[in-house]
Amino acid sequence: MIRVLLVCGSLQRTSTNRAALDVARAALSASGVEVSAFEGLGSIPPLNSDRGDDPGDAVLAFRAQIRAADAVLIAAPEYAGAIAGVVKNALDWVVGSGDLYGKPVALLSAGTSGGVFARRDLMRTLSWQGANVVASFGIDAAGSRSMTDADGSRRFTDPTTLNDIGALVSSLVASVAQRPSERFAQITRLARDAGIETGPLADHIAAQDEAWLRR
Ligand SMILES: Cc1cc2nc3c(=O)[nH]c(=O)nc-3n(C[C@H](O)[C@H](O)[C@H](O)COP(=O)(O)O)c2cc1C
Repeated sequence: MIRVLLVCGSLQRTSTNRAALDVARAALSASGVEVSAFEGLGSIPPLNSDRGDDPGDAVLAFRAQIRAADAVLIAAPEYAGAIAGVVKNALDWVVGSGDLYGKPVALLSAGTSGGVFARRDLMRTLSWQGANVVASFGIDAAGSRSMTDADGSRRFTDPTTLNDIGALVSSLVASVAQRPSERFAQITRLARDAGIETGPLADHIAAQDEAWLRR
């Protein structure tokens, strides 16, 4: 069974990114995928390389959940033209452990603009640590496309948004069975669209393909 880890980059309860992940979770579960979520983002300390040997429980849990997953879906807000700081900080803790190396990742950003800059930042930082970003999607005007339930949580109801999230999820799941080199065209297209340099990607993919064949 394929296992997908969901990571919500917003800490607020009435989060549209969490609402987008709720849609993704339903689509994944309906197609027989095992879904888990990392809920400890707010407990991850600021990166401190002096704590490399003792990063704390939240970082260890984050790394372990990534390791256990076949693919990762990150939905994160854009703040002041960049990726939310808590998300970048958490990802920095994974650079040294290498848990995202060769891992298929899909990106979502829901918010006012659809998070072009947030997704570009994610694309770069994930690519530099060797993750395979295979899908990316922005939901603009997320507030007006979603509604708030009585318990304060947000929910997407707009059929186009539901379909688009479903397509993103399908693309992520399909990538799990692919060799890294089979993902290459998609990865480089997304990187180019985001204005990210593609040279290092080619090196990563070649090495990952060799490792994939030796499995
Ligand atoms: C400090 C701050 C900065 C923001 N900057 C941006 C921005 O640069 N681009 C954007 O599209 N939305 C921006 N927004 C609006 C967010 O997209 C919106 O609040 C979104 O709903 C946050 O995601 P969440 O609902 O999952 O928490 C900003 C919001 C906050 C609180």
